Amino acid sequence: MFAAASLTSASKPEQYAELCEQARGLLHGERDRIANAANFAALVYHALPDLNWAGFYFFDGRELVVGPFQGRPACVRIALGTGVCGAAAATRQTQVVRDVHAFPGHIACDAASRSEIVVPLFDGERLIGVWDVDSPKLARFDDDDRAGMEQLASIFVASLRGM
Ligand code: SME
Repeated sequence: MFAAASLTSASKPEQYAELCEQARGLLHGERDRIANAANFAALVYHALPDLNWAGFYFFDGRELVVGPFQGRPACVRIALGTGVCGAAAATRQTQVVRDVHAFPGHIACDAASRSEIVVPLFDGERLIGVWDVDSPKLARFDDDDRAGMEQLASIFVASLRGM
């Protein structure tokens, strides 16, 4: 049975390196998308400080549909190009939003959210969905979080291919 150890490193890059190792261990040997997404969201949500939502929206060929997550119930469907999640999917770029109130079209699922990071997920060129993390703290996410979350997301995507 996998047991997630609490993070012991001090710096953000070191914390993400530890978390990536834990994520690889947690997803190893399993390719089921729901199982891996659920465990991945739980791992990250409980490991990192100051988060109020962490989870997935998957692309169904038309729009983004909420997947496994930790946090309060969320809006179910998001059109491409709408909100932070839709912007990440449409631009194919990670969105780091220091103040969600200043982001045009931001979709408020939890009124406590103040900042957000969304990483788009691809299998080659094909959009799979997005990995979305919210914080009640203003400007919670920086370039270290962008690099760390992108690396974590790539571990999730690789797990679906059995890698
Ligand atoms: N805030 C997101 C919607 C999803 S919730 O944060 C869980 C957005 O604007 O796309």
